[in-house]
Order: sequence, then structure tokens, then C-alpha cells
Amino acid sequence: MLILIKGGTVVTATDRYRGDVLIDGERVSLIGTSLDIQADKTIDATGRYVLPGGIDVHTHLDMPFGGTTSSDDFETGTIAAAHGGTTSIVDFAIQYKGQTLHHAWETWMKKAEGKAAIDYGFHMIVTDLDQQVEVEMDSLVRQGVTSFKLFMAYPGVFMLDDATIFRALLRTSDNGGTICMHAENGGVIDVLVKRALAEGKTAPKYHALTRPARAEAEATHRAIAMAEMANVPIYIVHLSAAEALEMVTEARDRGVPAYAETCPQYLFLSYDNYEEPGFEGAKYVMSPPLRPKETQAKLWRGLAFHDLQVVSTDHCPFCIKEQKEPLGKDDFSKIPNGAPGIETRMGLVYDGGVLTRRISLNRFVELTSTAPAKIFGMFPRKGTIAPGSDADIVIFNPEKSTMLSARTHHMKVDYNPYEGRQITGVTETVLSRGRLVIENEKFVGRAGSGSFIKRDPRSL
Ligand code: URP
Ligand code: ZN
Ligand code: ZN
Repeated sequence: MLILIKGGTVVTATDRYRGDVLIDGERVSLIGTSLDIQADKTIDATGRYVLPGGIDVHTHLDMPFGGTTSSDDFETGTIAAAHGGTTSIVDFAIQYKGQTLHHAWETWMKKAEGKAAIDYGFHMIVTDLDQQVEVEMDSLVRQGVTSFKLFMAYPGVFMLDDATIFRALLRTSDNGGTICMHAENGGVIDVLVKRALAEGKTAPKYHALTRPARAEAEATHRAIAMAEMANVPIYIVHLSAAEALEMVTEARDRGVPAYAETCPQYLFLSYDNYEEPGFEGAKYVMSPPLRPKETQAKLWRGLAFHDLQVVSTDHCPFCIKEQKEPLGKDDFSKIPNGAPGIETRMGLVYDGGVLTRRISLNRFVELTSTAPAKIFGMFPRKGTIAPGSDADIVIFNPEKSTMLSARTHHMKVDYNPYEGRQITGVTETVLSRGRLVIENEKFVGRAGSGSFIKRDPRSL
């Protein structure tokens, strides 16, 4: 099957030109300024950007957490992702204590198979690291599961001590894997949470008030220092605080390979959201929490000046209004942590980043597609438009506006954190390895047509 995308403006992390793109089967086969080829299907992209498909390297689909399960599974979540211009995700498979990593990987593969409408990979959440599990890490890296998430927070659930973290870092230094770190000081937070509850402070805003920015900065600094001692790069997930960003910047200025992602919620929402009336603040309970509004400009600067490398979503939705008795109504520490965003990332970052001139169009592509592909071993198969790369392509209308709302979004969750926000820039048509999945804003793909992405080990 030959598909020709004609008349659009091709944008990659480095280029922007008027170009026609020919797709042969699953791959891009030819790019030219004016291709005169009889294809099986021709898509008119006049007035549109032709972008590499978005890559979201931080999602939690069908994940048991906080006494419930995230409400999007691999079918609903990946369809919503495609609507928003994302064609690849890297989700998290959890190793529970006493389990092997392979068991966890197989469990999450079963959740995705037959359901995912776009391609997917996995990071492993490691909670139990003995000698045998260290050996398994090597084997997983060889099999294309090349990254591992460790937690410095959630004591008794996910949190690891420094010695265990250091062992994992040393192992990835040898096997080419990458450690993704949830950097918050879990011990400090636990004490603050218990103290707040003892004082009768139960409302959602106390989730934020018991997770200080300094607890994130301290853990970020410690994580980077341990990676430096293990002589291996590190990737900090969902960075939210300006104080934590300072730690990343300081390390990078010294030439230490520290990478970090932030997420749209930290760029567009703030602590003020926790002050919404009633139990509304629960919609924003996530870890790390939303920070003061002034942080947003600092994070945008970090993105523009390459101290932050990636915008992912940490999509982890939980319904709130649907429940008769919402979890955590009388105790903020029982509100499941996480918020939706898999569908709204590209539009928000384009509207709030490119149109406001905080970042360039090329940087937008880099942050949402190319850099995650490079850091997590998918480039140049994914993350760019080039002959031989997978035909994961988004046809994006930069002029069209839309309103974000739970009434119209495709995520399976009963609220949208950006409800009523007007954005300009709309994903109209999406191809995933040459298959049309979204056409004129309608899903035309098939659940189960996404494939596992076997990722490459770290090259640097
Ligand atoms: O609140 C969050 N971030 N929920 C998802 C789990 C995690 O720590 O990424
Ligand atoms: Zn986390
Ligand atoms: Zn997460």
C-alpha cells in the first residue's frame, strides 16, 4: 500500500520545509518537494504541519494503584493518545515484591496485546532487587525493555533505599539500561503526612503542603549524585519544582549526563488548583504535586534552554465524580495519585509553548517526539520523518482551535484538568506505521494493531 501525503510542511527537530512524503507499507520511503507518484491513497496536507508522531514515555494504563486501577486501559488510553497526536507510548510494568521482572513484563504485555491501537514499550518498576533480579535486568535490556523506574518515595509500597538504588545504577552502567527516577524524599513526606493528619488536616490541598519542593530537590540531587558515582546517565521523571530543576541544571553545567522530563500539568496548572471548592482539589492530587504558579515560567525556560529534555504526561487517570464515596474524602493521603493527560499533551504544548514563543516549532517536535525517541532507544525508527523511519505521522492543523473538555475528550475519565481551556493547534490525521488511525479527527484504527517496541540499549 502506497500513501502519499501531499502539500504539507514537514517539521522535524531540525528542519521545516514544504514537502511530500511517500509511505510504502509501514515505513517512509521517499520525501521530495513535489512528488508526482500514483499512490493508493493521497492525503492533502495543504496548510498543515506534517510531524513525527508524538512519543509519550510516561503513561500508566490499567495500573493498580492506591486501592483502585487507573481508568484508561490499553485500548481507551491508546485511542485517546492517537486523537492527541501520540503514536508511541512507554508504559510502566510493576514488579511486585517477590516477583521476577519477566513475570511483570509478561503481565503488562497481556494487558496491551489485542488492545493497544498504537505502538508501546515498557519501563520496569523495580521494587525488589536481589542478585537474580539484577541478572534479569541484563536480559530485559537485551530483549528491548531498556529502562527501569525506581522510587525514592512511597515507603512500604515502591520506595527503595539508597544502597539498592546504587546497585541498580551500577548494573545499568554495565548493561546499557537507563534508570528513571521518581525523586521525592519519601521518609520526610511520610512524617509530614502523618503530622498533618494528626492535626486534622485532611483536605486535598494538604497533599501538596506535605510534599515540599525541597523534598523533590533533595532527592533529585541525591539521585544525580548516585548516578554520577555509578558513572551512568540518569533520567528524572515528572520534574515539577524549580528547586529540583536547579539541581539538574547544576549537574548538567558540570557535564554530568542528567536528563529530566516535565509534564503539561506542571506547565499549565498550579497549587491554586488545590484551593478549588469542595473536593475539586482531588482532581489534581498527583506526585510530585502542582507547584506555585511562578514555577511554570522556570520550567518553560528549562525546556527552551535544554535543561529539561522531554515533555511526557504521567497519564494516570482516576474517575472522581463517578464514585459514590470518593476515595480520600476524609483523608487526602488515600486519594489515588495521578491525573489524565495522554490526549492533551501535544495541543497544550503547541498552544502554550510555540504560539506564545516560549519554544520554537522544532523544539516542540524535539521535546514531544525526537528526544524521547533518542533517550529511550527508539531513534531513528521513531521520532523523526526520514526515509526508512516508521511511518508514524501526524497531520496537524496549526490554525484550528478547540476547547478541552471532559464532554468531548476520548480519555476514559470523568473530568479534564484543563476543562474549558481554548487551544489552537489540532491533530487531524494520524498514521501509525503506515496505518490510518485518526482521519479528520475520527478514530479509524483498530484496537490491537499496535506492536511492542523493542528498544535499543543506551548508546552513550
Ligand atoms: O501521581 C502520580 N505521579 N501517579 C503515577 C505514579 C507515579 O509516581 O508516576
Ligand atoms: Zn513517579
Ligand atoms: Zn508516573
